Amino acid sequence: MSFMRLLPGTELRISALGLGTVKIGRNEQVKYPDAFSIPDDSAVRTLLAQARELGINVLDTAPAYGTSEERLGQLMEKRQDWVIVTKTGEEFSNGASHFDFSAAHTHMSVERSLRRLRTDYLDLVLIHSDGNDGAILQQGDCVAALQDCKRRGLVRAIGMSTKTLDGALRAVRELDVVMLTYNLQQRAEQPAIALARELRKGVFVKKGLMSGHVRQDGRDLVRDSFALVLGEPGVHSLIAGTINPAHLADNVRLAKEVIDNATGFRPSPE
Ligand SMILES: NC(=O)c1ccc[n+]([C@@H]2O[C@H](COP(=O)([O-])OP(=O)(O)OC[C@H]3O[C@@H](n4cnc5c(N)ncnc54)[C@H](OP(=O)(O)O)[C@@H]3O)[C@@H](O)[C@H]2O)c1
Repeated sequence: MSFMRLLPGTELRISALGLGTVKIGRNEQVKYPDAFSIPDDSAVRTLLAQARELGINVLDTAPAYGTSEERLGQLMEKRQDWVIVTKTGEEFSNGASHFDFSAAHTHMSVERSLRRLRTDYLDLVLIHSDGNDGAILQQGDCVAALQDCKRRGLVRAIGMSTKTLDGALRAVRELDVVMLTYNLQQRAEQPAIALARELRKGVFVKKGLMSGHVRQDGRDLVRDSFALVLGEPGVHSLIAGTINPAHLADNVRLAKEVIDNATGFRPSPE
């Protein structure tokens, strides 16, 4: 089993652990257990270099993560070394989220992400759901606009970050990739992982560390979290958010241990 694997239906070679970057761009209206300060440029540069050094190549960002996209564009070295995942549909301003899944907004958002990230292609763009997964897919404008961006070579793969099982199942059937919640406390979307495996679609997991609620009843649940998520057949990459270099090192070590010991998952080799 390999820490690097191919994302089905694409030529993207991705690490089993990705770096979530909410905390480098936004610290208001977030659900983490502890308040935090946004790291300065030097700390972000060091974190990105450490992630690459440890073998991580997936960066997960979004327009809704405050300055995350812009800062990655500014501070990331060697863009070609990274698989960049960003989103469309959610905007965060004046302390609140707003959603727009129209074709015009989707095109604007993709073009703005390209500018902010200082690149001419995005590896993966996900629809950033407001919870109405099915309605967004049914309405179809956002998907059609993303497909157009894909045809034009601006985007390599498209998907949806879902909030419901029905939405996740539908996203698996209709798009290249689903990003869903799967952790020790929330396993409702597991059938979508199973379906994706059957249909050979990509699966990214968000909130695998329960958004940081990993110390409960005196127990440290980080290892158990990685064992659950990365031991699940069909999961390609767990996006774990951290701005703490010690946590990043622990996470890669634990992810590699879990992958080495897992028996069920058979990703395509790199
Ligand atoms: N598409 C969406 O709708 C959506 C929604 C939510 C999240 N996401 C993406 O998924 C990523 C992860 O989600 P998330 O940030 O909500 O949840 P998460 O990865 O489950 O948890 C992140 C939290 O866990 C803490 N943490 C990380 N490693 C740890 C360790 N070894 N020991 C103890 N604590 C640890 C981090 O704190 P430290 O910084 O102190 O390590 C951070 O507060 C986000 O950054 C984002 O990229 C996407």
